[in-house]
Amino acid sequence: MGGLKTKLIFVISLLVALSIVSPSLSLPSEYSIVGYDPDEVISEEGLALLFERWMEKHGKVYNNLEDKQRRFKIFQSNLAHVIDWNSKRNPSDHIAGLNQFSDLSFEEFSQNYLSKMDPHQENVFEASAERLNATCPHPLSWDWRYKGAVTPVKNQRDCGSCWAFSATGAIEGINAIVTKSLISLSEQELVDCDSYDSACDGGWPYRAFQWVIDNGGIAAESQYYPYTARKGTCNTNAPKTVKINGYKWVERNEDSILCQVYKQPVTVAILALPDFQSYRSGIYRGVSCPTNDPGNINHAVLIVGYGTAADGTDFWIVKNSWGPNWGMSGYILIQRNHILPYGLCNINAWPCYPTKV
Ligand SMILES: *[C@@H]1O[C@H](CO)[C@@H](O)[C@H](O)[C@H]1NC(C)=O
Repeated sequence: MGGLKTKLIFVISLLVALSIVSPSLSLPSEYSIVGYDPDEVISEEGLALLFERWMEKHGKVYNNLEDKQRRFKIFQSNLAHVIDWNSKRNPSDHIAGLNQFSDLSFEEFSQNYLSKMDPHQENVFEASAERLNATCPHPLSWDWRYKGAVTPVKNQRDCGSCWAFSATGAIEGINAIVTKSLISLSEQELVDCDSYDSACDGGWPYRAFQWVIDNGGIAAESQYYPYTARKGTCNTNAPKTVKINGYKWVERNEDSILCQVYKQPVTVAILALPDFQSYRSGIYRGVSCPTNDPGNINHAVLIVGYGTAADGTDFWIVKNSWGPNWGMSGYILIQRNHILPYGLCNINAWPCYPTKV
């Protein structure tokens, strides 16, 4: 009864959304980027087919029909948000899209892919009291990916180990810059062995740096067990392939962070919300993310560069750890020089980097 009405409203709202975006229907490439074809979603049959195609693309298999129906419902709701955002967004806003997370509610997504990072509980505020404060001459744009200091995008899968990927990314970066050799490093070793952090239940890149220092180094990806997205037995005999000497926090201002990013990739923590889950491309402006609480964060990522768009918007180039199918080949552009005191989605609150001589 109510179900039919809801379905009808849904299909009508899809039609409305599509009629708003119809001026850009002459640009089919945009839709293939977004991941759906508007002709498919105007009927229930089309929706069901789209869901089947999406399942195939992302290798989704459900245990039973009930589970599949439940996932289909969530998929439709996520698709409706994608279409709604894309139809209303300003030309300079980011584009949303379907991806491997489109059958998950945000609650499920947070549980499985985001991290428990509470700086209040863990005395991170005190630990980070001393910070680098600097201004420096720097180019207008910079991208460590073109300087041989960034490994291909990795995938943490359903394990809250973002902290480990953010940390290895930063160590890979400084190691490549100092030694001229780019070596992919083992997140699994951190997940198995780093007792300062909590494996798949979350952690902090700075503690991972401290663990690598205390351990005398970290193994190359190729010299430790392959990544499993689960905590396993620590191999204490793993080779200490790359060493670091220390780590430092960066002051919570754009000048200081920019100076350090120009020197090396820098780890940061952010607040990731539903529109981050469905981010596809463009500059993320975090309209759902106004926050003045630097403790409100749930994800660790890596800044690998910066630039300015044609419309004058400054952005950070941010490497994520959700595989190359998320965002722009695994990356997101996040607005910088934002008026919020801790930056957009708190990106300025916890910048930290490893040192190596
Ligand atoms: C950072 O340096 C600037 C310029 O020297 C200064 O105005 C500012 O107060 C410093 N910030 C902190 C937190 O020390």
